[in-house]
Amino acid sequence: METFIKDVTSLVSTIDDEHEITKRIAERLSELLAGDYRLPPELTRPSNEHHVNYPVYIAPDDSWSLACVVWDVGQHTPVHGHQTWGVAGIYAGAERETRYLKPVASEPRRALTPAGEHVWERGQVTVCCTTDDDVHAVAAVGEEPTVGIHIYGGNIGTLNRPLYDPATGEVQWFVSGWDSPPGQ
Ligand SMILES: [Fe+2]
Repeated sequence: METFIKDVTSLVSTIDDEHEITKRIAERLSELLAGDYRLPPELTRPSNEHHVNYPVYIAPDDSWSLACVVWDVGQHTPVHGHQTWGVAGIYAGAERETRYLKPVASEPRRALTPAGEHVWERGQVTVCCTTDDDVHAVAAVGEEPTVGIHIYGGNIGTLNRPLYDPATGEVQWFVSGWDSPPGQ
């Protein structure tokens, strides 16, 4: 994981284009997931209340962050945006991602336009977000908790982000914060 953090730090500081950064990080994350790296068990534990975001690494300048996101069986997120780029890989379990076109802020509010659904399984990596295309909802599917390793182009726990009502396009802003692994 230390090497992975060094590699991402170098990619983030040397590449400007979000599409290129996310593509290169996705390649590195695929390699990490295909290897024998194991997360500390405390970073894979679900909460029975809601899905949790554990911080693994936050760049000192908040230019990027690495999170372990854990959903217990049946948990799901509301429809949300990220306001930055992001790459997500499945470490355990599986997730169903439902995507939506990002509404244009200047246009009148209306129902969101669905943009497809995909089930991501263990070992798979997806570029979930670029700043212009970052709206989705995620649900854990299957019989075991879903654990994702996510990399975002900012400190995702402190970014102000939109939650959408997909039926009306209504937006509420939120800051997710970070969760503490059990026992810490
Ligand atoms: Fe997300």
